[in-house]
Amino acid sequence: MNKNLRPAVVAGNWKMNKTPDEAKALLGEIIPLVKGADCEVVACVPFVDLLVALEATKGTNIKIGAQNCHWEKSGAFTGEVSAEMLKAIGVDYVIIGHSERRTLFGDNDLTVRKRTRAALDAGLKVILCVGEYLEQREQGITTEIVRLQTKIALLGVSAEELKNIVIAYEPVWAIGTGKTATAAQANEVNAAIRELIGELYGKAAADAIVIQYGGSMNAANAEELLSQPDVDGGLIGGASLKAKDFSVIVSEANA
Ligand code: PGA
Repeated sequence: MNKNLRPAVVAGNWKMNKTPDEAKALLGEIIPLVKGADCEVVACVPFVDLLVALEATKGTNIKIGAQNCHWEKSGAFTGEVSAEMLKAIGVDYVIIGHSERRTLFGDNDLTVRKRTRAALDAGLKVILCVGEYLEQREQGITTEIVRLQTKIALLGVSAEELKNIVIAYEPVWAIGTGKTATAAQANEVNAAIRELIGELYGKAAADAIVIQYGGSMNAANAEELLSQPDVDGGLIGGASLKAKDFSVIVSEANA
């Protein structure tokens, strides 16, 4: 982190976990533990938990996010939820392009770009996920893959709009596997993304953009990962479902 240049953002990605009652209970545990954090704290919850989560976090420092949105405002898109709908109920953030959406539900760089556009147009903040497969890392093309994913998603995004984007570097091989990228690996890719932002938008934008690391970040390894200059927080899956563990990560981001 480099807090002189940009805030840290720690976001929980609850994935398909917690009923509304369970969500309320977990947030009830998290709220007192992260009170007074000097980083941004976000909980990205399942669609059905959004209203309860918004109510439970009213007046607290926790922002609520969704985990996907469709690119059209409304229409015949069975099973989808639009960015406008999320904005209308008071959601702040939306995760776009998570690797589980890409590998399991057919999302690709072009649909990620369309969803990003819709989210920005609706006034949501985007957590844009990019990351390589293990084979791609072994081939030595991690930087190229991540640059391309980022570039395509940001096509047509203005410098002003970029302020509403957080990028999450999530190596696919590290998600939910317990295999974390080393702090040096995470920092190297995050720095490469920042360099790309510099090429596209200039140095001030590169300095200001928040780039998280995600992939088995937990209470034990957060300190080392977050001590890296280009790792500005985390997108946390498994560990975000345990109030204590999540709050330890938030407190490491406060350090
Ligand atoms: P994990 O998930 O922390 O469980 O690896 C991270 C993510 O998918 O965002």
